[in-house]
Amino acid sequence: MSNQLTILVTGGAGYIGSHAVLALQRAGYKVIILDNLSYGHRDLVEQALKTELIVGDTNDRALLDQIFATHNIAAVMHFAAYIAVGESVSDPAKYYRNNVAGTLTLLEAMVAASVKTFVFSSTCALYGVPKFTPLTEDHPQDPISPYATTKWMVERILADFDAAYGLKSVAFRYFNASGADPDGLLGEDHHPETHLIPLVLLTALGKQDSIAILGTDYPTPDGTCIRDYIHVADLAQAHVLGLKYLLQGGNSNMFNLGNGNGFSVRDVIETAQQVTGRKIPVVERDRRAGDPPILVGSSDKAKEILGWKPQYADLQQILAHAWQWHQQRHGVK
Ligand SMILES: NC(=O)c1ccc[n+]([C@@H]2O[C@H](COP(=O)([O-])OP(=O)(O)OC[C@H]3O[C@@H](n4cnc5c(N)ncnc54)[C@H](O)[C@@H]3O)[C@@H](O)[C@H]2O)c1
Repeated sequence: MSNQLTILVTGGAGYIGSHAVLALQRAGYKVIILDNLSYGHRDLVEQALKTELIVGDTNDRALLDQIFATHNIAAVMHFAAYIAVGESVSDPAKYYRNNVAGTLTLLEAMVAASVKTFVFSSTCALYGVPKFTPLTEDHPQDPISPYATTKWMVERILADFDAAYGLKSVAFRYFNASGADPDGLLGEDHHPETHLIPLVLLTALGKQDSIAILGTDYPTPDGTCIRDYIHVADLAQAHVLGLKYLLQGGNSNMFNLGNGNGFSVRDVIETAQQVTGRKIPVVERDRRAGDPPILVGSSDKAKEILGWKPQYADLQQILAHAWQWHQQRHGVK
């Protein structure tokens, strides 16, 4: 008889969820993935993770009840969500339905099945335009997109579910997830891709002609936006620590997960040219609405309470891991 705990990971066929599955497996947990494959990758689950994949939706209450009835689930890690900020402005219903209603359905099924340990993918975007940096967890919350509002709403639901039903949760507010599994098993493959680092690397691969810099007149040293890039393997490790914290009786809590170092858009492009050894053509465009000049977080709370120690804070290393993955994914030697 195995005494392995089983963790249900929603969105485990996606970018961050798949890296968390790998970290859970390496830490000795059994994992079941629930993913509707709207944006996830079956091939990565089959080839890299080799674990059970249930193709289904968090809005499907009957399926959730069946999963909890037939598997002895100790905890849920919830990555499943739609993530495109721009699309959430043009189609907010899609985001509230999936990210809020889907999560509520999942939480109700958990309470009904007496599974009361929950780790949630939140976002630094719920702080809105920073009033100070680095952002700490007590920074006022004022989300400016429907996407960020969905995460803010779920955090409110989690507080109420703890008070009423004793459901304990950790919400992780990520900064910019980036990089890839250092061993090259997994990486980032969003369709459509909206994140800077993969777009820069796809440009290096010749998959697109140039990378657009959206705004060169920000009040930053080189005029471009500064962001906090956190390696996905470090995010994954934090999830394992957050899970252990709850399983050991920790109270519901929320933590920033960032690097603490800001890098500008030009820093990222320059470093990508060094890492890839390729010229990356740039076009300079106007600012995009809603982009704060600087978003950098303090993760001292996660370090102190969870004992989190990020391993890959160096931009060069983040880009090297992402580049290894992109070359492999696109069949380039
Ligand atoms: N990528 C980032 O920088 C970032 C930053 C902050 C927060 N987050 C959050 O992290 C989580 C994972 O993001 P990601 O970048 O890995 O995205 P992703 O799109 O790669 O992964 C999300 C996965 O969830 C699945 N999914 C979506 N809705 C579902 C549903 N209703 N039922 C079942 N499966 C569903 C998709 O098929 C996909 O595999 C999301 O909750 C996102 O909001 C990401």
